[in-house]
Amino acid sequence: MSLGNGYMGLRGNFEESYSGDHLQGTYIAGVYYPDRTVVGWWKVGYPEYFAKVLNAVNFIGIDVQLDGRVLDLHTWRPSKFRRTLDMYRGELVRSFQVEDGEGRVYSVEARRFVSKDRRELACIRYSLTLLVDPPGRGAQVKFTPYLEGNVVNEDANYGEDFWQRVEEFSGEDYQLVTMEVKKSGFVVAAASTFRLYRGQEEAAVEVRPTARPRYAGAEAELTVHSGETVSLEKLVAVTTSRDHPRELVSQRALELVRRYCSHNYRELFARHAQAWAKTWGESDIVIEGDPAAQQGIRFNIFHLHQTYTGEDPRLNIGPKGFTGEKYGGGTYWDTEAYCLPFYLGTREPEIARNLLLYRYNHLEKAKENARKLGLKGALYPMVTMNGEECHNEWEITFEEIHRNGAIAYAIFNYVRYTGDGQYLEDYGLEVLVEICRFWASRVTFQPRKGVYMILGVTGPNEYENNVNNNWYTNRIAVWCLEYTMEVLAELRRAKPDSYRKLVDKLQLQQSELEHWSDIAARMYYPYVEELGVFEQQDGFMDKELLTVADLSPEDLPLNQNWSWDRILRSCFIKQADVLQGLFFLGHLYDLETKKRNFDFYEPMTVHESSLSPCVHAIIAAEIGYHDKAYELYLRTARLDLDNYNKDTDDGLHITSMAGTWMAIVYGFAGLRIENDRLTLRPFLPGRWKSYSFGLLFRGHRLKVQVTPSEVVISQEGGARCDLVVHGQPYGVEADGQISIPH
Ligand code: BGC
Repeated sequence: MSLGNGYMGLRGNFEESYSGDHLQGTYIAGVYYPDRTVVGWWKVGYPEYFAKVLNAVNFIGIDVQLDGRVLDLHTWRPSKFRRTLDMYRGELVRSFQVEDGEGRVYSVEARRFVSKDRRELACIRYSLTLLVDPPGRGAQVKFTPYLEGNVVNEDANYGEDFWQRVEEFSGEDYQLVTMEVKKSGFVVAAASTFRLYRGQEEAAVEVRPTARPRYAGAEAELTVHSGETVSLEKLVAVTTSRDHPRELVSQRALELVRRYCSHNYRELFARHAQAWAKTWGESDIVIEGDPAAQQGIRFNIFHLHQTYTGEDPRLNIGPKGFTGEKYGGGTYWDTEAYCLPFYLGTREPEIARNLLLYRYNHLEKAKENARKLGLKGALYPMVTMNGEECHNEWEITFEEIHRNGAIAYAIFNYVRYTGDGQYLEDYGLEVLVEICRFWASRVTFQPRKGVYMILGVTGPNEYENNVNNNWYTNRIAVWCLEYTMEVLAELRRAKPDSYRKLVDKLQLQQSELEHWSDIAARMYYPYVEELGVFEQQDGFMDKELLTVADLSPEDLPLNQNWSWDRILRSCFIKQADVLQGLFFLGHLYDLETKKRNFDFYEPMTVHESSLSPCVHAIIAAEIGYHDKAYELYLRTARLDLDNYNKDTDDGLHITSMAGTWMAIVYGFAGLRIENDRLTLRPFLPGRWKSYSFGLLFRGHRLKVQVTPSEVVISQEGGARCDLVVHGQPYGVEADGQISIPH
């Protein structure tokens, strides 16, 4: 039920009072507090702080009093309670009825949206109808719309208050609360105004402003008679010092409220809904014959667009978006590994490019991070808000270094998809070279065996810590070296001047390149000869090799039932690890290799990271395990709707939602970019009648529809698009359509 627009967002809280257990949560992208690190045993190299996205001013609040009694949805026990999330138009609608103890029955309808048209705005329409009035006197209704800045983070290491007061004001025309984040200094202002209506007519009502530190409200009272509806429309503007000079933040919020207050909810909503219609037009996935799967994918797409809109390269995608505080709202490898393809496929290339620029802009911090650990080059943080590492568990912070690989891979992926080779020259190569320098300083040469190894790491499967030679890490490290050398060589050939400039800027030595080649040639990879599978890490085959089917239901989820040492000793896998490599580097491995590794590892995988099922679904689809792919798809698509992991109160699994999109587009439709061409190998999951999705590819606006008998690909406008379907080349003309029988 959360709403957001990439700039701000909030949980599905109520406007009225609610005294029961809840987390009132409003979050503003990029506004964080450096919360002092908390650890049991300090290790040198730990960061001083964990940047946390802040629970900010609650701007939806409307206290309601009915004949002097506060409407508290916890104690009043509403009936006919219903919430509708209109994902097509981005509106949350809530309705219920309450009885006041004297036989009077009221019905309430509350609507709200966070504007996709004007990102600093949000709007609420709260309507109340007196349905039944046995005393026949009508009722006094008091609305107090307010802005409440006395909010605390649920996730706060020392229970501190992260905000300090700047100013608040309440008048008849508007309310204002401005606060500053301690330490990080962000200034945030919320301004609001409201109007009252009796039926359709605006009602002139006396307003009593109330203000106290970090709070601004306004009381307005009116009598409502039987059958009558009174409504309150509240318009809110939220501004921050991220976008405005500090001293003007309050003023800007007020200006916005003044500028937009002449429009009513309906008008502002129409513009917002129009923006959503455009987004859906470009990125909807339509599934016929399976409403549960259809609802699942739309829910995922909706939340992805609510979380990240991509205009601001300072922002990124937190695993929970604006829906909760877990993971601190920071950026993880999730962005590059799971989210990028969604934004590549559904938005203009600038959006995905901004995700890459985010890391480019953090390059100096990543170099500092590597230096701090006594290493060279750049080590991107495991979790960050501003480029600095926030994570503080040694086996992850210092050891889960494969994240660097995903950041390099994202550059490759972006260039491969968009064809924007210039990005490499302008930004990408700097990042790639520093990542290579990191790998070159992190490997260990083993002279007795004449090979390079990477010791003491944690792979993507976090149910193994401090292992040697995690296959995925070794493989992605070498891939980074090879890819970087390849694009350097290409630049040298095609643009010798640019190459020389870059080499000078980075002070890149020939000896370094030789060292990288040597590492790539002599890297050691654990391999299980008799099974023909890559060994997840040294010693994996010494474990007792069981499958998830051998576990009893009480064991699951392992992370809630088993002691940590038991998990570490076991063979059970949290999320794709070897298979993550076979997904990323799928173009380098044949189907048989993928199949052997899938058959070996998937049965041991407990999928206790939400990021796991999607990668497995894609590989299952590729190797022809269509039912398995569908089963895994459903698990990822409805994870939050059906609350599989019993944790939606923490918020949604936003980054895995992008994986769900991939499960359809890369999994069922088999999208790949091969030899610069869009390539599809679609199949239709058994229960579906058809599915279709939009795809933006190199300026082509394509629509792909898969039915039991054919694949239909059409293009809106554009120029001829050459592509490959089931191994055969085709061309779709501008505004054209082709049908290919299965
Ligand atoms: C996963 C990581 C992921 C993180 C944030 C963890 O549970 O193991 O791969 O980056 O969650 O989503």
